[in-house]
Amino acid sequence: MTAPTTHRGLLEWVSEVAALTTPDQVVWCDGSPLEWRRLTDKLVAAGTLVRLDKKPNSFWCASDPTDVARVEDRTYICSADEADAGPTNNWMDPLDMKVIMTEHYRGSMAGRTMYVIPFCMGPLTADKPMLGVEITDSAYVVISMHIMTRMGSDALALFGEDADFVRCLHSVGAPLKPGRADVPWPCDRTKYITQFPEERMIWSYGSGYGGNALLGKKCYSLRIASVLARDEGWLAEHMLILKLTAPHGAVHYIAAAFPSACGKTNLAMLEPSIPGWTVETLGDDIAWMRFGDDGRLYAVNPENGFFGVAPGTGWNTNPNAMLTLAEGNSIFTNVALTDDGDVWWEGCTDSPPDYLTSWRRENWTPESTDPSSHPNSRYCTPITQCPITAPEWDDPNGVPISAIFFGGRRATTVPLVAESFDWQHGVFMGATLSSETTAAATGEVGVVRRDPMAMLPFIGYHAGDYFQHWIDTGKHADTTKLPKIFYVNWFRRGDDGSLLWPGFSENARILKWAVDRIEGHGTAFQTPIGWVPGTKALDLRGLETASHWAISKALTVDHDEWRAELPLIEQWFATIGDKLPTALHDELEALRQRLG
Ligand code: PEP
Ligand code: MN
Ligand code: NA
Repeated sequence: MTAPTTHRGLLEWVSEVAALTTPDQVVWCDGSPLEWRRLTDKLVAAGTLVRLDKKPNSFWCASDPTDVARVEDRTYICSADEADAGPTNNWMDPLDMKVIMTEHYRGSMAGRTMYVIPFCMGPLTADKPMLGVEITDSAYVVISMHIMTRMGSDALALFGEDADFVRCLHSVGAPLKPGRADVPWPCDRTKYITQFPEERMIWSYGSGYGGNALLGKKCYSLRIASVLARDEGWLAEHMLILKLTAPHGAVHYIAAAFPSACGKTNLAMLEPSIPGWTVETLGDDIAWMRFGDDGRLYAVNPENGFFGVAPGTGWNTNPNAMLTLAEGNSIFTNVALTDDGDVWWEGCTDSPPDYLTSWRRENWTPESTDPSSHPNSRYCTPITQCPITAPEWDDPNGVPISAIFFGGRRATTVPLVAESFDWQHGVFMGATLSSETTAAATGEVGVVRRDPMAMLPFIGYHAGDYFQHWIDTGKHADTTKLPKIFYVNWFRRGDDGSLLWPGFSENARILKWAVDRIEGHGTAFQTPIGWVPGTKALDLRGLETASHWAISKALTVDHDEWRAELPLIEQWFATIGDKLPTALHDELEALRQRLG
């Protein structure tokens, strides 16, 4: 196949990689429906995919059971200087890493096809389109990139002869010996997810899983983009973007950061429980935010699809996600397969089908002790299919953000909602965000860890510099135009262990209060940790009065609990070292004073 570009740098890089990895053939991806058909047919024939009878143009996939999540302990920021990676990232000298990974890549695509995927993160019509090329030996990655990015000929047309692009190299690390049969999910026991920030380059080896292998997502749009954002004065964040319209017609756009598997997608697709309010979706995972000429902060979603956690997604919890999936054109990975050709996962419906094929490809019945689906099983589906996608989701100028929410999963201490005193205090809230770990990354589940701005696994440089960049972002702006910052916790529990707040569609009541505050007519109590509403300030109409007591518990700022939190924050800040901004140290001392 002749290459469909005259971009010298791209052509040279593709030949170099092919010479190193020795694939049987090189295919330039065009992103066409025909390509989708060819590759999905190929993956069905290989046993990687099962075509679903009950959802149009949709597929079930089960991964190797060892390759089911992002591997944070195998993820590296290979900056030239170790100090630039900071204390929260793994680091190795870029030259050493290249030597090691080059040996892994040598011959790694033997017996396979090497695909070249030109792509663009964010709108193709942007002033400066954010280009990338992923080279991969995984057809599963190609079809996933069809959904998650703008890719193929339309993207390649923007490369011209010499446009800058992020080089993304991916191999599953499973060369095929001549005559040897393939497995449904090739991967290697050894894995590396490596970012080279100065070169704007990504090398990934050994995994086929989403966040490790779809390199436009976490690796480019967060780790590499956060470095670009620092250098160029913008923000690349792990945030959903939603549009909230009040009954009086006012529109507010909200960006919200929660750690993986803490409800970003559900909030992005909220069906408000309160009459007259509507939510529309612009993104569920990543926001790129830049100041507009009017001094407001504008957000763009760089992605083209949702790569959502399946378990817990159902008609009760997220009907809009279910409607999105019902349209078809989706890939389901590590959920269960029904015997009539549909998918199922825990929480999909109230009671499970009588018989399933589990994500481990084993027979499964409701009596089985293991769940049918992996807790980090995923759907991959186009954003345009969501019935509440806002038409402006694809606007290259983005949407002006009125509020930023930070949130985590905490059983104690953190109230349902608090508004920061100002931008710097809001940065302190984000920098000290804490959450109990989930299945979205490998490792223990349910342990409280600090997850600053929900970016712990995604900050592409020193966390102390990242905090300073956030503080500076507020300084360089007209402060009256900055988004207000809120800290929420949907997951606080009572003494009996039950959740104090109903969550899901009821979260609209918290959004409404935030709008009241933005518009200047919401009331709040000043507490040591920020402005917190009483139950009277929240619109609780339609909720049982019995729940009001639990809600007031959820809103409580317990000074003793917060005093106990201080040494934990101190410990966390100590891990950041010398580069912790003085401003954050000052915020901690001010909090200590306020707690008395
Ligand atoms: C992923 O892990 O591939 C992913 C999309 O991220 P998250 O864990 O944030 O859902
Ligand atoms: Mn995420
Ligand atoms: Na994840």
